[in-house]
Amino acid sequence: MSHKIAVIAGDGIGTEVMPEGLRVLEAAAERFNIALSFEHFDFASCDYYLEHGQMLPDDWFDILSKFDAIYYGAVGWPDKVPDHISLWGSILQFRRAFDQYINLRPCRLIPGIKSPLADREPGDIDFYVVRENTEGEYSSVGGRMFEGTEREVVIQDTVMTRTGIDRVLKYAFELAAKRPRRKLTSATKSNGISITMPYWDERVKAMATNYPDVTVDQYHIDILTANFVMHPDWFDVVVASNLFGDILSDLGPACTGTIGVAPSANINPEGRFPSMFEPVHGSAPDIAGKGIANPIGQIWSGAMMLEHLGFEDAGKAIVEAIENVLKEGPEQAPLTPDLKGKGDTQALGKAIAEALSAG
Ligand code: NAI
Ligand code: MG
Repeated sequence: MSHKIAVIAGDGIGTEVMPEGLRVLEAAAERFNIALSFEHFDFASCDYYLEHGQMLPDDWFDILSKFDAIYYGAVGWPDKVPDHISLWGSILQFRRAFDQYINLRPCRLIPGIKSPLADREPGDIDFYVVRENTEGEYSSVGGRMFEGTEREVVIQDTVMTRTGIDRVLKYAFELAAKRPRRKLTSATKSNGISITMPYWDERVKAMATNYPDVTVDQYHIDILTANFVMHPDWFDVVVASNLFGDILSDLGPACTGTIGVAPSANINPEGRFPSMFEPVHGSAPDIAGKGIANPIGQIWSGAMMLEHLGFEDAGKAIVEAIENVLKEGPEQAPLTPDLKGKGDTQALGKAIAEALSAG
């Protein structure tokens, strides 16, 4: 039985890093004897939009539902198509329609990459941000009234459901329970947001009773962001609502160096729908076409995809191969310019694939 992967490179450097992601996945498939089959799609890109007047074909849901996972590059080309059209018309549709209610981002300082935080070394930063990806502050409940008058009013309601909170908490607790430190931090703001956030806290307490081995703490979002910078070593698994998680899941990877290496997963844990794996970065129009984009975010996202599909060893081996190449440093390894190297996208992808095959 082959695992079916839908491949969507998207725009800009998405089309440059995707072949390297696939190269490493193929090396992993060979070493670990995994049957993977890839099918490529040109939709969910700005070129597709310019040709068809929409980002996706009408039957995209049926097409993609048949796959075990979606491997995505990046979308967006603001000079051709406004960002709200390209993003809303593509990945945001996938996240909602496929109920990918977990957004997972590892924040790990890797040997060979310098943290922008002074004196931080590999081992000091190694945690996950688990973001609720479907409800919360990003709701469509609300509206605008009395437009253009003195009484003009806008309202947007936060929507938190017990189902929605409990399922993201369960995922985060399960993840924490599997990690050596077994620690979970909840992002809250129950001092200021006095209805939804105390409810979130209540659900955390209730869920914690199922996981007596997991230590739980909580911080208000304001001091939590400060602690990401001042004490990143305090964290193991951090769980947050949609808005707070959005902020933390950019800040966390930023503390670990270049955006070019950060991966992410949008997961439907029950597997009713395909999950989607993509680098954190966008299409980087400023460097697109030069062949110098760092492919590691894309490659690492592939590792998360294999772990999600049940191939934990293969996923771990990819991350080890990335680490081994980075450890060699910019003199020995063909690192990309964002890593202070003189290599390019392809050379770095090949080096990681070779390290994986040799491993
Ligand atoms: P961006 O992530 O594309 O670029 C930000 C900066 O980081 C740029 O200077 C870029 O050169 C650099 N960078 C990004 N990835 C890199 C890599 N792999 N290697 C080396 N340097 C890298 O974010 P920006 O410029 O705000 O957005 C550009 C477009 O991408 C927009 O259309 C935006 O909407 C879209 N976007 C798409 C995302 C997605 O597909 N999930 C996420 C973020 C932005
Ligand atoms: Mg964000």
